[in-house]
Amino acid sequence: MRRRDWPWARRQPKRTEAATGGTDAVDGLAPGAGERRRTPAVVTRNLGRSVGRREAVRGISLVVEDGETLGLLGRLGAGKTTTIGLISTRLRPTRGEVRIFGKLVSEDVNAARRLLNVASEEEGGYPSLTGEENVDFFAHLYGVPRGECSQRVAGVLELVEMTPSKDDRLASYSRGMRRRLSLACALVTAPRLLLLDEPTVGVDPQSRAHIFQAVRALQARGLSILYTTRDIEDAEALCDRIAIMDEGRLVALGTVSEILARSQTREVIELTLGRPPGDLGSIARLDGVLRLELSGSELRVFTLHAPGVLAVLCGTPAFLAQPILTMKVTPVTLEDVFVELTGKELHD
Ligand SMILES: Nc1ncnc2c1ncn2[C@@H]1O[C@H](COP(=O)(O)OP(=O)(O)OP(=O)(O)O)[C@@H](O)[C@H]1O
Ligand SMILES: [Mg+2]
Repeated sequence: MRRRDWPWARRQPKRTEAATGGTDAVDGLAPGAGERRRTPAVVTRNLGRSVGRREAVRGISLVVEDGETLGLLGRLGAGKTTTIGLISTRLRPTRGEVRIFGKLVSEDVNAARRLLNVASEEEGGYPSLTGEENVDFFAHLYGVPRGECSQRVAGVLELVEMTPSKDDRLASYSRGMRRRLSLACALVTAPRLLLLDEPTVGVDPQSRAHIFQAVRALQARGLSILYTTRDIEDAEALCDRIAIMDEGRLVALGTVSEILARSQTREVIELTLGRPPGDLGSIARLDGVLRLELSGSELRVFTLHAPGVLAVLCGTPAFLAQPILTMKVTPVTLEDVFVELTGKELHD
């Protein structure tokens, strides 16, 4: 079930003191006449970062609206972690700028830092301390008022459903439990913007479900979230909009349906053939065929309108000579559009 089917999908983030602050209008995102808009959680303009002679992030302009979850979807090495580093102020941009709730990071880095926190790719923490001691340590490190510490620590442990394991040492935790604990550590400062770097990679299904639940609870509270992932399912299930990143650039940004609408194709005819078709070129040249994918005897034919193509396809010599074992027509998926836009599979 998609998040937009739930009552939370219509959540109204609380208005805050920053809500009335002005921000520069970003191209195409300026509020319409008479419409009052909250200051976005993140605005980046032409953001870039060179690592040696290579530019890991190449001029990214994006907006995370207040209360929105934006997914940053990209392959291994696309530049997701570098982007998180730039937005979190951990890395300095070599070009461009970042605003956090209207505050320009280059002018007031501490103001930006007070508003955000990161659950990074690597699990931090001290193996010899218990889960609770770790969260408590981070709370003190980040200056959470003493009187609030124990309540905050208990609250965030509960949110990631780690209360039953809070007295066990971090060293004994599974990877999924460590990721949940690093999420708790990030939340203990009560950030308004949470940066999540691939929180579900390599975690067990139970921890994945707990992380999903925690993200949904945070969305319901109006938190703004930037969620990087290599997983289409995560992106579709949790994110309001998705930015597709490839080789340091954004190649698409929008809701799932907006991104699907950018595709030149609409439907896929999926065929399992008796043997691989010999003459792919003649199929590719058929009227209405926009793209082909062949994997063994599985052929996928991309088109705008499947019925018209099917009628011609099944009469071609390449098909008449062999049995068709299965055939179905499906709508184009986000994964298909990812391949179309980047020329690469999401996973190797
Ligand atoms: N410190 C560094 N030194 C050299 N190259 C780096 C460094 N940090 C990042 N890169 C390179 O920059 C590019 C982007 O890396 P980044 O870690 O941001 O990608 P990513 O999308 O987070 O990848 P992954 O899915 O593997 O986490 C990659 O080609 C990477 O090899
Ligand atoms: Mg990364």
